Amino acid sequence: MQENKIEKQFPKNFYWGCSTSAHQIEGGLKNDWSEWEKSNKRLEELKNKNLNPLDFISDKASNSFENNNADIACMKDLHLNAYRFSLDWSRIEPEEGKFDESALEYYLHFVKKLKLNNIEPFVTLWHWPIPLWMRDKGGWESREIVFYFSRFTKKVVEYLNDEVDYWVTLNEPMVYSSMSYLKGFWPPQKKSIWAMMKVLKNLVLAHKQAYRVIKDIGQKNQVGIAKHNIYFEAYQNKFVNKFLKLMADWWWNNNFLQKIVDTQDFIGLNYYFHSKIDYGFGKAHVYNKISDLGWGLHPEGIYHVLKDLQKFAKPIYIMENGLADKGDQYRSWYIREILSNVYKAIKDDVDVRGYFHWSLIDNFEWAEGFHPRFGLYEVDFRTFERKARSSAEYYRDICKNNRIV
Ligand code: BGC
Repeated sequence: MQENKIEKQFPKNFYWGCSTSAHQIEGGLKNDWSEWEKSNKRLEELKNKNLNPLDFISDKASNSFENNNADIACMKDLHLNAYRFSLDWSRIEPEEGKFDESALEYYLHFVKKLKLNNIEPFVTLWHWPIPLWMRDKGGWESREIVFYFSRFTKKVVEYLNDEVDYWVTLNEPMVYSSMSYLKGFWPPQKKSIWAMMKVLKNLVLAHKQAYRVIKDIGQKNQVGIAKHNIYFEAYQNKFVNKFLKLMADWWWNNNFLQKIVDTQDFIGLNYYFHSKIDYGFGKAHVYNKISDLGWGLHPEGIYHVLKDLQKFAKPIYIMENGLADKGDQYRSWYIREILSNVYKAIKDDVDVRGYFHWSLIDNFEWAEGFHPRFGLYEVDFRTFERKARSSAEYYRDICKNNRIV
C-alpha cells in the first residue's frame, strides 16, 4: 500500500471545526475598524492605488448577523462538531457601560442553536475591532482598556456561561500590535515601537485579568488565546541563521505565550506561515504552491510548530489554518497535507485536540477587502448565497469519519 493511501484515524472526540470572526462576517457593525474603512485617509490611499473603495468597506460583510442559519446550514453540511467565532464588543457595549441586552440575547440564541446541532462553541472575546468610545480613550495603548475589557468579559461570560465552555480571550496579539502600531497598516495606523510595546503589555494584562474573571464565573471554563506562530527555519543551518531563528522564535512565537503561561488552560494555534531565515536575505525560499495572497504554502511547518508548543504541556487546538484560494485549486491538497502533519505530531505525543479551518465562508479580509477568498463555501456578496466549493466536500469526509485517507 502506498504511504499516501494509509488511513489516518484521529483521536476519539477530536474537534473538527471552522473559524470566523464577527467583523469579517456579521455586517452592520460600527466600531473603530468600520470607521477607519470609511475615513478620508483610507479612501485616499485606495484612490491612489486605483481601487474601488466599496471592495474595502465591510458594510454587510457576509450578512451572517441577519442570517446565521445560513452559516449553521454550512456547518451541518460539513458535519462539524465545533465552531469558533467572535463576539463584537461594539455591538454588545455600544456606549461605555451600557450593555445591549438584545445583542447578548442574539449571541445566546446563536450558541443555543449550535448546541442543538451538537456543535461546540469556541467563543473569541476580541478579534481586533474595538468600540468607538474605547478607541477615543486611546484603545489598546491605554492602560484603562484592561479594566474595560474585563468588565465586558464578565458581562458576556455571565450571560453565556451555561452554554459555553471554551473561551479565546484574544486573537493574535503579535499580529495585531505589529500591523496596527508598528507597521501602520491597520487602524490606528501608528508606526511606533513604543506604542507597540505598550499595546503588548496591555494585551498581556487584559488576558490575565479576563482569565481570572472567566474562571471565577465557572471553574469548568477552558481559556486560552489564538496565537499566530510561524515555522522559522535557518537557511543551510548556518550559525548566524540559527541564532536569528532563536531570536525570531523567542520574539514572535514564545514571548507572549510565556508571559501568560499560568493563565492558559490550552494553547490555541493559528498557523499560516513558514519563514526561511537567511542573514544575507538573498535566498528566498521557493514555494511550489502559493495562495491568492502570494503566501507560500508550507504545510510541513505545522508539525514543527506543534512540536515546539509541546513544551507548554497543555492541550492544543489549531484555531485557524487556511488559505485564500478563489479557484479552490490547492485547498483540498493543503488540508490533507496539513492534517497529515498534525497526525504525525499526534503520533509523536503532541496533545492536539482540534482543528478549525479558516474559514467556513468567504468573508471580509481586513485591509485586503473582499478579494481574498478563504471560504470552504463561496459567498455571492450580492445575494449572500453560500455554495460549497469542492474542498468543502473533501473536508466533510474528514469531519464525518474522523480520519484522513
Ligand atoms: C486572522 C484572520 C484572517 C486570517 C487570514 C488570521 O491572521 O485571525 O482574521 O482573516 O488570518 O488572513
